[in-house]
Amino acid sequence: MEFVSKVFPEGQKGQQALFAHVSDCLVIAFDAQLIKNSKKPAGILAEIDRITQGSVVRALQAKDLEAKAGSHALILGNDSWLAQGLKAQRLLLLSMGLAKEVKNEGHVKTLSAAIKTLAQTSAKQITWHFDQLPAKDALFKIRQLVQLSREHTYRFGARYPKLKTKAQDAQLGMTHLVLASSSKTQKAYAQAMKEGLAIANGMDLTKDLGNLPPNICTPTYLAQTAKQLAKDFALKVEVLGRKEIEALKMGAFLAVTQGSVTPPQFIVIRHQGASSKEAPVVLVGKGITFDTGGISLKPGEGMDEMKYDMCGAASVLGTMRAIAELKLKRNVIGVIPTCENMPSGHATRPGDIVTSMSGQTIEILNTDAEGRLILCDALTYVERFKPAAVIDIATLTGACVIALGAVHSGLFSRDDDLAENLLSAGRQAQDTAWRMPLDAAYQEQLKSNFADMANIGGRPAGSVTAACFLARYTEAYPWAHLDIAGTAWKSGAAKGATGRPVPLLVNYLLAH
Ligand code: BES
Ligand code: MN
Ligand code: ZN
Repeated sequence: MEFVSKVFPEGQKGQQALFAHVSDCLVIAFDAQLIKNSKKPAGILAEIDRITQGSVVRALQAKDLEAKAGSHALILGNDSWLAQGLKAQRLLLLSMGLAKEVKNEGHVKTLSAAIKTLAQTSAKQITWHFDQLPAKDALFKIRQLVQLSREHTYRFGARYPKLKTKAQDAQLGMTHLVLASSSKTQKAYAQAMKEGLAIANGMDLTKDLGNLPPNICTPTYLAQTAKQLAKDFALKVEVLGRKEIEALKMGAFLAVTQGSVTPPQFIVIRHQGASSKEAPVVLVGKGITFDTGGISLKPGEGMDEMKYDMCGAASVLGTMRAIAELKLKRNVIGVIPTCENMPSGHATRPGDIVTSMSGQTIEILNTDAEGRLILCDALTYVERFKPAAVIDIATLTGACVIALGAVHSGLFSRDDDLAENLLSAGRQAQDTAWRMPLDAAYQEQLKSNFADMANIGGRPAGSVTAACFLARYTEAYPWAHLDIAGTAWKSGAAKGATGRPVPLLVNYLLAH
């Protein structure tokens, strides 16, 4: 799909040029203010009503078109329009609601509704005109428009045609998106479009890696993907193998990988957008390419979904891709411990005690609580970067799915500023998180009779005790943890990775 922004002059002349612009569909996204007096639409809608011989008034009278956000009417063109200089094959009139009432969440619904309607037509080239958008809103609406259009046309099967040899889902019509702007808005719109595209590209990479089967998307495959990214975008990458992981004394990470014949990898990928003196933001992603549970084996039903247990890692790579494409002027380092969690004669037993890289000992009471074991060593490793902030991203606990479902990612942090910045970045990007507690009182549940700590804290507050475990390894820097177990992929008929929380992370890095 191609995206371009096109400048039209201000005023009457610009409107004529917009109408004269040839397209399969011209979308007029307008503020509901314009149809407040529904017998007599105002602004651009008045002009359209005139050219289309009363179509707008008729649509309003028939209540096909209403003020409420998301209401829209699709009108097919005719010879009389063409004669009057309206060169679009179709018009889609789309109410964005009243600017002062609608929040970001509403825009997502509105734009999705319009894109769904467009997808049911054969329109390939769509021109979008946002009438009278408040400047501060434009950025996020346009980013959303690009992301949602791409989301709608993402087809895993078309990207990996060898995996499904029978006929693929029909490719969707939309191929070109033109964003109409004026000389005043052109710069801001083009920038918003660029950001939306970079985020969408990052999300696609994250989705691809999540959706790929675990026999293809192995730790080595993730490492190769990082190396390819580094080549394409001039990033620096370093990949450590088992020997180097042993030399670093990452006893917790090694305990998880020891039951698997697939070699582990420890990936460090760096974007240097600022002076090397500037402290980096470090993103740490859980990269379990398949989680059987190990000796504490998971039940069989739905176990295939544990191929998604590397979505934290995938979101780190997707975010690195997006910020590299945007040439972000900051230093960002992605760190990914990646391996499989398998049962075997070599596997860790419940009751085994291991020493983490930090020196703290862990009694592994449940081998299915493996995410925290690979993350704790990565979180110790990153101390060497003297980070400004560390954010880890992990499909860490089923308990987080019970607490928050598929709506919000779980956010845990001792640092109120960091937490607030991440929450607001998520709200703006419509990729939201919800803050969860991290009180010291929960640490009690991790007590072990035989080691410094146990790796599980029982069923109560399972996602909190998992975060509390990580907190013991993150005293050296400001830190936040995102539990994306409920948000990284969808189950059921629409099974597939979502690309979250790439929008949240990229927006955080852009804004803070
Ligand atoms: N990868 C899982 C978490 C998970 C489960 C994510 C289901 C999404 C859906 C994680 O490694 C795990 O198995 N966690 C255990 C922890 C428990 C043993 C303390 C869990 O959530 O059951
Ligand atoms: Mn597990
Ligand atoms: Zn897991």
